[in-house]
Amino acid sequence: MDIRILGSEKEIGAAAGRLYVDFINANPTCVLGFATGASPVPTYDYIAQSCRQGKVSLKGVSTFNLDEYCDLPRDHKNSYFTFMCENLFSRTDIDMANVDFLDGNADPDEESARYAAAIKAKGGIDIQLLGIGRNGHIAFNEPGDKFTDEAWRVALTQSTIDANSIYFDDIPMPRYAITMGIGSIMRSKKIIMIATGASKAEAVKNMIKGPVTPACPASILQQHSDVTVFLDPAAAALL
Ligand code: F6R
Repeated sequence: MDIRILGSEKEIGAAAGRLYVDFINANPTCVLGFATGASPVPTYDYIAQSCRQGKVSLKGVSTFNLDEYCDLPRDHKNSYFTFMCENLFSRTDIDMANVDFLDGNADPDEESARYAAAIKAKGGIDIQLLGIGRNGHIAFNEPGDKFTDEAWRVALTQSTIDANSIYFDDIPMPRYAITMGIGSIMRSKKIIMIATGASKAEAVKNMIKGPVTPACPASILQQHSDVTVFLDPAAAALL
């Protein structure tokens, strides 16, 4: 793993964002895997700003996102689809026909097969962006007793509900999500992980220094050949 410790979230956003801008300019029809949550927002800001300044175009890019809540309309303000539209897509020239998203209201098995086929048809994901949960989850693959493969419907853990329910002020937070599996994530050609803040320090330590175990799903990244991890000093404190 290539571990880069930078001074602030903003610096991380600029460094990761630059990496995307350079990659897209070199590969205008690339396939990108995106994540939601707080960690990637400065990176999305950087990409959106670069697009506005004419330094990059997302017109030819295809995207897949890691996960989506179940039992929530796609246009709800807290859906991950809405998050991506607000934080990235609507701020760029991306062609929404090239944006694919897991449907949290579809039959999970059929949706999993559809998503796997769609990713394969595009030639696989070139760069997958990840955050990490306080419990070591990646996407919504929570700690468990086995590594998952393709997308599946997951019951969210209390740790994740506690972390994310602050965003739900009108309805209770959904208890289920559909998420890309660990296998789908590991098949990405390159992975970029962003973790900031003291609440991630333990999970980051287990991911990098701990044994590879489904008890810390992110630890599987030790077995991927091209992972870049961006950390701030607080998230790196236990390394
Ligand atoms: C979101 C996702 C999650 C988050 C993780 C960290 O699509 O897959 O695994 O990356 O929960 O969330 P933040 O960045 O909000 O701390």
